[in-house]
Amino acid sequence: MPVGVKVNPNIVEMEYAVRGPIPQRAAELKQQGMATIACNIGNPQALGQQPITFYRQVLRMLEIPAGIERERVLNGLRRRHREVFQHMNDADFVSDYVLDLCDDILSKLETGLGAYTESRGPMFIREAIAQFVDKRDGVTGSNGIPSDPEKIFLTNGASEAAKYIIDMLIADGGDGIMIPIPQYPLYSAAIKKAGGRQVNYYPDEEDGWTLNRTALEEAFTDAVARGTNVKGIVVINPANPTGAILPEQSVRDVIDFAKEHGLVIIADEVYQENLYGATWLSFAKLLENKDVPLFSLHSTSKGFCGECGHRGGYVEVRNPPPIEGSRLSFMEVMYKQASVSLCSNTPGQVLTYLMVQAPKEGSEPYEQFVREREAVLSDLHAKATMIRKALGRMNGVECFGRTGAMYLFPRLNRLPKGTTDFDYCMKLLETTGLCTVNGSGFGQREGTHHLRIAFLPPKTTLEEVLPRWIEFHNAYVAK
Ligand SMILES: Cc1ncc(COP(=O)(O)O)c(C=O)c1O
Repeated sequence: MPVGVKVNPNIVEMEYAVRGPIPQRAAELKQQGMATIACNIGNPQALGQQPITFYRQVLRMLEIPAGIERERVLNGLRRRHREVFQHMNDADFVSDYVLDLCDDILSKLETGLGAYTESRGPMFIREAIAQFVDKRDGVTGSNGIPSDPEKIFLTNGASEAAKYIIDMLIADGGDGIMIPIPQYPLYSAAIKKAGGRQVNYYPDEEDGWTLNRTALEEAFTDAVARGTNVKGIVVINPANPTGAILPEQSVRDVIDFAKEHGLVIIADEVYQENLYGATWLSFAKLLENKDVPLFSLHSTSKGFCGECGHRGGYVEVRNPPPIEGSRLSFMEVMYKQASVSLCSNTPGQVLTYLMVQAPKEGSEPYEQFVREREAVLSDLHAKATMIRKALGRMNGVECFGRTGAMYLFPRLNRLPKGTTDFDYCMKLLETTGLCTVNGSGFGQREGTHHLRIAFLPPKTTLEEVLPRWIEFHNAYVAK
């Protein structure tokens, strides 16, 4: 028997239900030949969502810059000899707009996609992010506080940004961070790994998962009474797993609460484009001139971009707090942390640049870009509506909150005695192939049961599986 290695127990104990026992069972069933549907994770392209052509054209040309000239020559030939190319579509060519943009990116990157960049990411991308944030929030010369490119870090997805901040905030075992319940388990896992304390707060499910001061104060007071030094609060808006979008008052309540208790806010805003017609306001906008430290996260994985595999993301910082007992500033320590990993991946950085800088209106790729963007978002909305309708036909199921992000989090009010949402999701998987995640994987109020479903599979798949789910459900809860 080999001698055991002692490893970090925090990592051994860490949990991540999104890839937990139910998805693992789904993988086994798939291997045995069952058709499974991966609704356990917000990974749109794994379920058939097509990448946005503009993004991929730019990435493709940047990877092999020698091809840029070739495409330019082709475009020239096509202009002069239309008849030769008449059997080909516009989509077979890369527009001069894209080629010029690639030249521009390469000249600013200086060293191409294969070299390390500045640890925070190249300045021109951080400047573009700052402009995007200001435009989004209606900041003008005389109105609002502009975003500062010096306080932006490009990261390998938003996950890395969240880990950076949590690792910095947890200074000893008594430090805690407030997280919503239910939550995206990146947060519980990152707090656990850093050796900190998870402090739960409870959005009001029946009021559309909104927040109020009472719920926040209760959680805070309780944690302090247990000897926890609460350092920050995580808010996910639009939310994962509930999909809910916070109203303005909830965001304002969090800001006032954080100010009063000297907390930093980690605003996970990766779903800011997944709104389906609802109004959404960023923390940065509503922060106004309040001196509350804010870390706002965004990602290329979600929205209509859906480029999870490319691992693009950023964190934008406002009002970084001073560091106790050090002459170094918060930004300097963050910089040190980023520089240990050298830099985030460059294709992800470029995708982030493209995400914050859509093709200009009237440019060659514009129309196709808008068409593809609208198609992705309207398809997601339609699929959420199909699932909501199906939930309405299931006995004892309620689903609260506005439709946002990529998820629905229905409450299962009527389960057979002695069973849990985990049992339900496992049986649902084994019966229909539909892989969801049990509510307990995200945390939930004691005594309640939920599941999370990502509304990502193609409509045809939903049309086929939803009636089977309704049938399964009504039989299961009748036991
Ligand atoms: C709320 C939330 N934050 C962060 C992430 C991770 O995003 P990324 O792929 O940018 O690391 C996810 C992924 O599902 C998420 O749902």
